Amino acid sequence: METLQLGNSSLRVGRLGLGCMGMSEFYGPADEAESIRTLHSALDLGVNFFDTADMYGSGHNETLIGRAFKGKWSQLVLATKFGFLRDAKGGFAGLDCSPAHIREACDASLKRLGVETIDLYYAHRVDPQVPIEDTVGAMGDLVTAGKVRFLGLSEADADQLRRAQKIHPITALQTEYSLWSRDPEGAILDTCRELGIAFVAYSPLGRGFLTGAIPSREALDPGDYRLHSPRFQPEALEQNKAFIALVERIARAKEITPAQVALAWVLNQDANIFPIPGTRKLSRLKENLAALAVRFTAAELAEIRSQLPTAVGGRY
Ligand SMILES: NC(=O)c1ccc[n+]([C@@H]2O[C@H](COP(=O)([O-])OP(=O)(O)OC[C@H]3O[C@@H](n4cnc5c(N)ncnc54)[C@H](OP(=O)(O)O)[C@@H]3O)[C@@H](O)[C@H]2O)c1
Repeated sequence: METLQLGNSSLRVGRLGLGCMGMSEFYGPADEAESIRTLHSALDLGVNFFDTADMYGSGHNETLIGRAFKGKWSQLVLATKFGFLRDAKGGFAGLDCSPAHIREACDASLKRLGVETIDLYYAHRVDPQVPIEDTVGAMGDLVTAGKVRFLGLSEADADQLRRAQKIHPITALQTEYSLWSRDPEGAILDTCRELGIAFVAYSPLGRGFLTGAIPSREALDPGDYRLHSPRFQPEALEQNKAFIALVERIARAKEITPAQVALAWVLNQDANIFPIPGTRKLSRLKENLAALAVRFTAAELAEIRSQLPTAVGGRY
């Protein structure tokens, strides 16, 4: 896969990365052996940009990735995140982006991953209790200490990006972006382009919904996080099927799959956008990578945009 410079950093990554979250939590049970096979195959297929966070499976995801990529780190760029706290039972225990917590969280991630340096370290959210200057200042200290190479933020707004960039160069902003989550269009994508910050699009498949593989709530495991998500509530899900109808129409016309439509739409918006679709399955990984070859003309993009429904239900 061709690699591109990520923001203004010296990191080079393929346009499509791999989101690893579902290998530990949120989307039903995962088979560890299958996840590791998918991680190894992803590398073999040219994927070099992998995304995790300390909170995914309360550390399980970082440990899994550490195990899978032992001895292979030079072949890839690993991004992880800090900020969300989990209690001993896995419950959510708030957000902490204070300098003291950042130092502790970074050491814990380094240990779980089994590396000396994290390539890209994100604040998972901007903490309303901590000035962003303090958070980014502490993250910058980790760069000075050699524990982290480059910095990122997740779900920051344009003003927060500008304030952060004054303290330390920000390499990437990771925010949700897909056919049904288009909020970053305008100020956020424009600011990223202006400041030389790469935009990493998370949940580009609409948490799987846009692929058509989740036609009803019954398709989800009882422990699946999406059962609690506003867009997957019975009435919202019914109305959001308008997205599936649109994606399936485009898929038929282009002779590609719905998942490839969803990914290609994001890829074709702007060369500064790096989607990180998540999958635990090798077959789906291959299907998703084929989206790199799909081109939409300006006329096709305009036509799709004119037909886009509005999502029913908030993102969270
Ligand atoms: N910064 C943040 O706050 C934040 C929030 C959410 C996610 N993320 C990151 O972004 C990554 C991707 O987002 P995401 O996993 O939430 O959502 P996503 O990539 O939009 O969708 C993932 C879901 O789609 C399914 N899927 C993948 N390829 C498919 C295909 N070709 N056909 C049918 N179904 C397919 C996956 O199931 P299988 O695994 O069973 O294939 C999974 O359930 C995460 O892994 C995580 O690293 C970040």
